[in-house]
Amino acid sequence: MKKALVTGASGFVGSHLVEQLLAKGEYEVYAAIRKSSSKKYLTDTRINFIELPYEDTKTLREILETCDFDFVFHIAGVTKTKNIDDFDRVNFRYVKSLVDCLQGLRAKLIFTSSFAAHGPADEVTNAPAKVCDECHPNTAYGKSKLKAENYIKENFNGKYIILRPTGVYGTRETDYYVYFKTIHNHLEPYLGFVPQRLTFIYGTDLADLCILAAQSPIANKTYFASDGRLYMDYEFAKITKDVMHTWTLKIKFPLFIVRFVVFVLDCISSITGKSFTLNKDKYNILKARNWDCDVSDLKTDFGFEPKYDLKQGVEEAIGWYKKEKWL
Ligand SMILES: NC(=O)c1ccc[n+]([C@@H]2O[C@H](COP(=O)([O-])OP(=O)(O)OC[C@H]3O[C@@H](n4cnc5c(N)ncnc54)[C@H](OP(=O)(O)O)[C@@H]3O)[C@@H](O)[C@H]2O)c1
Repeated sequence: MKKALVTGASGFVGSHLVEQLLAKGEYEVYAAIRKSSSKKYLTDTRINFIELPYEDTKTLREILETCDFDFVFHIAGVTKTKNIDDFDRVNFRYVKSLVDCLQGLRAKLIFTSSFAAHGPADEVTNAPAKVCDECHPNTAYGKSKLKAENYIKENFNGKYIILRPTGVYGTRETDYYVYFKTIHNHLEPYLGFVPQRLTFIYGTDLADLCILAAQSPIANKTYFASDGRLYMDYEFAKITKDVMHTWTLKIKFPLFIVRFVVFVLDCISSITGKSFTLNKDKYNILKARNWDCDVSDLKTDFGFEPKYDLKQGVEEAIGWYKKEKWL
């Protein structure tokens, strides 16, 4: 059995990855969680739980040396935070610690970065983002992910694959869920008047891709991760409405109004410490018009074929949200 460590195992992507690894029956799976982490989606008795002291590199090194993992899937990360320094602390400094402590060990590192590390694709030509492009992240989140990517590329002497997922959605997910709930409440919001070009990957497909990337002899490359299709924002809404058999009222918000709302929410957040799904970073993501990316090398390098297109994924996700009484 190969030994696989999944960090961020309590989260949306991490918990699916743990499940997919166990389903393969070829892996001894270690789920890295915190004392405060929920084990709601980690109930399989075959899971070995582990805590990683990212800020105590001596102990972290001892743990990694003792466990001698074949694969380390570093999924842990913060996508939103009330304290902006958390992006650098968790998304960069923890990656640095992990990379430093993995030096010289045999583990292949699979790192989930983000499309945000690249920044939006070209809005003039509408060309898809490519790995060879120069990066221009427009969020603190994206900048922290790019910093982590660069650290891995420049310093890690082992094997690694960097994946830059686009919008990941599916069962257990809590951000796109807000959008689904809005449509469920008969509202169809649009930010700005120019249609947005979107890409997606279903959560379990991303988990499959992580495993393919680990198993592959290919190493030390970066990939965007999507289902390979391009969707316009109104198509996403239509698919969601069709799946829910519902109607909506379309509302188009000019960007300057959304920017003002975000300013107010950011002020409330800094006073109360509460974080909101809509914040400055999210606004920068939502205002960008082109989130298309080139993923042709996923097929050529890993033979990756997503099992879900957006309609199939939204159907399954909404079925789950209903079953769990989230909708
Ligand atoms: N979801 C997307 O659309 C998307 C798109 C592109 C890239 N990604 C990347 O994919 C990864 C997984 O995302 P997700 O959607 O699954 O996020 P998620 O559901 O919020 O899960 C995040 C995981 O990271 C852990 N984590 C957060 N802060 C930590 C800390 N200080 N120390 C240790 N662990 C910590 C969380 O642990 P707790 O449960 O204890 O909080 C949780 O297990 C992230 O790196 C994210 O940047 C996600």
